[in-house]
Amino acid sequence: MATTKTHIGNFKFENCFMNAAGVYCYDRNELEQVINSAAGTFVTKTATLQSRPGNPEPRYHDTALGSINSMGLPNLGFDYYLDYLLELQKTHPDRTFFFSLVGMSTEDTHALLKKVQESDFNGITELNLSCPNVPGKPQIAYDLETTEKLLTDIFSYFKKPLGVKLPPYFDIVHFDQAAAVFNKFPLSFINCVNSIGNGLVIEDESVVIKPKNGFGGIGGEYIKPTALANVHAFYKRLNPSIKIIGTGGVLTGQDAFEHILCGASMVQIGTTLHKEGPAAFERITNELKAIMDKKGYKTIEDFRGKLKYL
Ligand code: FUM
Repeated sequence: MATTKTHIGNFKFENCFMNAAGVYCYDRNELEQVINSAAGTFVTKTATLQSRPGNPEPRYHDTALGSINSMGLPNLGFDYYLDYLLELQKTHPDRTFFFSLVGMSTEDTHALLKKVQESDFNGITELNLSCPNVPGKPQIAYDLETTEKLLTDIFSYFKKPLGVKLPPYFDIVHFDQAAAVFNKFPLSFINCVNSIGNGLVIEDESVVIKPKNGFGGIGGEYIKPTALANVHAFYKRLNPSIKIIGTGGVLTGQDAFEHILCGASMVQIGTTLHKEGPAAFERITNELKAIMDKKGYKTIEDFRGKLKYL
């Protein structure tokens, strides 16, 4: 039978599926449910230096085709997640987990990454450059000059594996420009894509979430074509050492197959995990394996990036 094992750099994972930051990752209880599921690993909720309550509720809403959220980075603070990750290094020494973080300022981001650098954390760090939901704070990765300066400063002291979570880009020139920046750095991975920022969902005559008068990040089925385009655009442009995590619109094994066909080495599940719970990992893994078996693919490397053109 096909295997969905994968790797990012030298880190090996028994399954290519994991949660998307923001879903099933707020506290130990949620993270433990992902550890005990069929997922290959987890990523924490994006941690800030201090804990944050996030935006006022309601701040997440499921729709027929996906979800809208404006959570506002609610999290238990850097130390909470680091302590847990260090504990897991002892109890699960053969597994690797992802630590998502970002500062509320550039100074905070450097403070967080310096703490990771100085700590015993031996997993993978994901710097979130794409949260669309903190009022007054634009998505960092839409400003490539700021992003390049930030990464230049970070890599002067940060020597552990690091990747970045990106917002979707929508223009071929922007794919070219962003890839040119990322190719300058020893990134372990990029993660495409965060939610499509600042959409609006209306039911009857009203918005459905409270923050920002209803504006929020769109996830789920709506965003798969955009996610696939970003995965493939970067797969074609990035140095092969920079792996790609595909996120967006994964409801089925077929969706995951398409992400991998576009070049993804791992696949994250967000809205579907929120709707269905951690059992989604086993269902989607089995669906992907069935597709691979039917096509005669033994590993995801047999078809990763091999999208056919007309
Ligand atoms: O609002 C939030 O907490 C979302 C974060 C993100 O999309 O990165």
